[in-house]
Amino acid sequence: MKGKFIVFEGGEGVGKSTQVSLLAQKLMDMGLKVAKTREPGGDVIGEKIRDVLKTSEPSDMDPLCEMLLMFAARRDHFVKLIKPLLDDGYFVICDRFYDSSLVYQGVLRNVPFEDIMSLKKITIGDFEPDLTIVLDVDSNVSIARLSTRNLIPDEYDLMKKDKHDLVRSGFLKTAEIFSFRSVIVNAAGSEQKVFSRIMKIVQERLLYMIRD
Ligand code: TYD
Repeated sequence: MKGKFIVFEGGEGVGKSTQVSLLAQKLMDMGLKVAKTREPGGDVIGEKIRDVLKTSEPSDMDPLCEMLLMFAARRDHFVKLIKPLLDDGYFVICDRFYDSSLVYQGVLRNVPFEDIMSLKKITIGDFEPDLTIVLDVDSNVSIARLSTRNLIPDEYDLMKKDKHDLVRSGFLKTAEIFSFRSVIVNAAGSEQKVFSRIMKIVQERLLYMIRD
């Protein structure tokens, strides 16, 4: 695979989708081939599974069933989109990847870590992101950001502060476990301020050979 796979992780309201778009635009402006994607999602099957997941409340779905659907969508996403794009030299920027399963299905819904990692191995093998950017901010800030969104919130968006704190510490833990590919970025402050922190890391880790 010749391209680079960059993943954004973090709880609801940390600003992932904004930063995914800013980074995609910046890399395109630099003349690179860029694709923006998200999980759960992917090609036709992955997006259908996303619909099932997004239209069912977590309380209606058994945690193991939820995890299996997440990895079915991920397998489709990997085989049909991510791998072909990387083989074609693209910078693929993805909003969430399997660390989200470790936090939402693992930490929040008690699916054992080893079971999630076994499924990871079965579905995507040894594949890992080249860089995982973990956006981290105080839960009060992310809750305040969520309240300004116009979207209809899903059950995870409506989590109370203690759950946001659990998600936040879950991602700090995955960043520690997978420290070889993870960087924690302070997501407090303006979009541009956060973006400049991200760009610095992308430059150091992935673009050091390409001039800005
Ligand atoms: P989305 O609307 O894309 O939310 P966000 O903007 O917060 O990323 O919905 C994704 C939801 O799916 C989010 O609540 C986290 C959850 N999720 C899991 O539970 N497990 C996973 O493996 C992934 C990728 C997402």
